[in-house]
Amino acid sequence: MITSILETIGNTPLITIPNTNKANEGQVLFKYERFNPGGSIKDRPAIYIINEAERRGLLKPGGTIIESSSGNFGISLAMIGAAKGYRVIILVDPKTTSTNLALLKCFGAEVIVVTEQDDCGSYHKTRISLANKLAQEIANSYRPDQCFNLLNSEAHFNSTAREIMEMCSNTLAVFITAVSTGGQLGGISKYLKTFAPDVQVIGVDAVGSAIFGGHTDSYLIPGVGLGWTPVNLNMANIDRAYKITDEQAFLTARAFARHEGILMGPSSGACALVALKLAQELTPDKRVVCMISDGGERYIQTLFNDEWMEQQGFATAADIETIRTMAGQLQPWSTCPADSANYRSDLIDGLEVPDSTLQINSEILNRVDYHQGIRFL
Ligand SMILES: Cc1ncc(COP(=O)(O)O)c(C=O)c1O
Repeated sequence: MITSILETIGNTPLITIPNTNKANEGQVLFKYERFNPGGSIKDRPAIYIINEAERRGLLKPGGTIIESSSGNFGISLAMIGAAKGYRVIILVDPKTTSTNLALLKCFGAEVIVVTEQDDCGSYHKTRISLANKLAQEIANSYRPDQCFNLLNSEAHFNSTAREIMEMCSNTLAVFITAVSTGGQLGGISKYLKTFAPDVQVIGVDAVGSAIFGGHTDSYLIPGVGLGWTPVNLNMANIDRAYKITDEQAFLTARAFARHEGILMGPSSGACALVALKLAQELTPDKRVVCMISDGGERYIQTLFNDEWMEQQGFATAADIETIRTMAGQLQPWSTCPADSANYRSDLIDGLEVPDSTLQINSEILNRVDYHQGIRFL
C-alpha cells in the first residue's frame, strides 16, 4: 500500500522509439518523467529540497513555500504543499501556459504573474528577486530556490542518475538533457563523470539562452534556458552543447506524439532531436538516454494547437524522415562548453539569494562523499 502520493515520485520508465530509431544506429531510450505524480521531472528536486528543509527545521508546520518557476517546479511544489499541508506561493511569468496556471491553482497554490522582463529579455531575475523579497516579508516562509540551491542537482545525483545507471549501465554511451537551473544536467553529469566517465554528456539549450555562452534573445521553449550559467552545472562535466530553435523543438515534439504515441513538451522535443542526431553517430550496441522532462498535456493550447503554431510562423507537421534529416543537419554549439561558461557570482548579492541557500551550498561544497571518496561538485 502506498501511504502518500509523494512516495510515487521517481522510478520512471525507459522507453524505446521503434518507429523512429533505425536498426543500424545507436538505440535511443527516453527516460519518461511524465510518470511522476506531478507530471514532470521537477517532482524529484522538489521533494528532495522540501524533505531536506523539514529535516533542517527551515520549513515548519504551517509554513509557506515561495518559489519562482515557469511551471513545472511550481506544480511539483504545489502538489507537495497540498499533500503536506503547506501554503505555496509561486511566481510565474507570461510564458507560463494556461494549463500550468490551472494546475497550480487546482493544488491550491497562490500564483503571482511577474510581467517585468529582466536585462536578458527573460523573467528569471525579476521572478527570483521578487520571490526573495516576499520570503523576507512573510513569516515562517521557505525559499527552495531551485536556481541557486545545490540540493537541486544533488537530488538528480541521488535519484535520476542512479536509476539510469541501474537500467543500462555498461551500454550507456550518451546522455542528453535540457538545461535551465542546471539541476538535471549538473547532478546527472556529475554522477556519470564519477562512475562512468566514458559516457558522453550532452546539454541542450534554446537559441536565445546564454547558459553555454552567446547572446541572449527571446525564445518560446518553456522551462529551458537562462541568461547565465547556473551554479548547479559544472561545465567541466559537459562534453557537447546544442542550441535548438523554437520551431525545431515544437515540430519534433509534435512528430513524436503523432508517430510514436509519446506526448512530450517542447524542451523534450529539443532533446529528442539531439538524441536522433547522436544515435546516427553510433552502432546498435550503444545506447543514448534522453530525458523527456514532462508530458504534452501541459502544452495543448500552444504546441498541439495548429492555429497557435501557424501564428508563430511554424510548420504544423513533419514526418519522421523530415525530423531525422533535421537531426542529421544539427551542428554542436560547443564541443568544449567549459570554455564558454558564463557564471555570475554577482547575482548572489544582486538578487539577494537567501542565507539558507548559501549555508546549504557551502556545506555541500565542503562535503566529502565518504562512500566514494569524492566531492559532490
Ligand atoms: C520541461 C522542462 N524541461 C527541462 C527543464 C530544465 O531542467 P533543469 O532546471 O533541471 O535544468 C525544465 C526546468 O524547469 C523543465 O520544466
